[in-house]
Amino acid sequence: MFIRNAWYVAAWDHEVGRTDLLRRELLGDQVVLYRELDGTTVALEDRCCHRHAPLSKGELVENNIQCPYHGLEFDRTGQCVKVPGQSAIPPEARVRAYPTVERNHWIWIWMGDPALANPDDIEDFHWIDDPDYRARGEVLHLEGNYVLLVENLLDLSHLTFIHRTTLGTSAVADTPMKTEREGDLVRVTRWVMDNTPPPFFQRAGGFAADAHIDRWQIITFTPPGFVRLDVGGAVAGSGAEKGDRSQGFTMRNLNAITPETETTTHYFWAQAHDFRTDEPWLTDMLYENVHTAFMEDLDIIKAQQENILARPDAPRVDINHDGGGLQGRRVIERLVEEEQRADGRQAAE
Ligand code: FES
Ligand SMILES: [Fe+2]
Repeated sequence: MFIRNAWYVAAWDHEVGRTDLLRRELLGDQVVLYRELDGTTVALEDRCCHRHAPLSKGELVENNIQCPYHGLEFDRTGQCVKVPGQSAIPPEARVRAYPTVERNHWIWIWMGDPALANPDDIEDFHWIDDPDYRARGEVLHLEGNYVLLVENLLDLSHLTFIHRTTLGTSAVADTPMKTEREGDLVRVTRWVMDNTPPPFFQRAGGFAADAHIDRWQIITFTPPGFVRLDVGGAVAGSGAEKGDRSQGFTMRNLNAITPETETTTHYFWAQAHDFRTDEPWLTDMLYENVHTAFMEDLDIIKAQQENILARPDAPRVDINHDGGGLQGRRVIERLVEEEQRADGRQAAE
């Protein structure tokens, strides 16, 4: 059950080129991504309309993609433009084309009705290529439903347990959070005041292990699967909570979560920082630390998904920390329902 009328991240810009044609399953659709000669990205259904061979195993002929099996060629609109050995092209010989936009080092794809695709609706991830920041990220593969990852990022009390060697201290789970809604946006805010920094913050912010800091986590979720974290720490009592972050440091943890299937997910993320941006080793260190932590998340979510598949109807008990995750899940479920109702109406008309 996916929200289809939405922009998703399909790939990092460097993954899409002209030699290796990228096949990627997105929301259960098999898609091939490549570039035209001028660099424009193209996304087509990766299934030839002739005998269903994957176009991604073929090659590019100038701006067209040629099926590896019997050589039919398709243009960026998905229209078949060449059939070897015949001059007439059957009018129904076409594959589905998906609107794409390249922005902030990501290739965005619209998975629903192309008539509704508006690039202005693409989520803001400018930190990834903002000259005032440095950022590094990757794409990970999660063996779990994408909403489990949304819930994971909206409830950072798990830092205390899953990430005890990197991001967590016991104070995180002990500090309540505030959950707010603005339309479909869910915001979770937690301030851990006057407490010692976790190992990661000691390395990033140069704080001593016994220093006292005020630490913030401001997490914003927007559907279908975008979670942006504003996190950092400042000298305790220096006024960060009131807006003065001059005695601390700020990072943006940027997550774009794209379902692959009902039980697997493409996880695009980047870590950006606006301090010491002339020190590439620092960007790499932040990336490595977050990567280590995220691998811990993928492990627990995979195990969680296996249990869910074994007994899908087992009840779930909620605790206070679930506030944000529950709101996020509700937004997703409502949007899926609305879309299906609209599709039902269309089908009935
Ligand atoms: S399957 Fe593609 S040309 Fe035959
Ligand atoms: Fe985590």
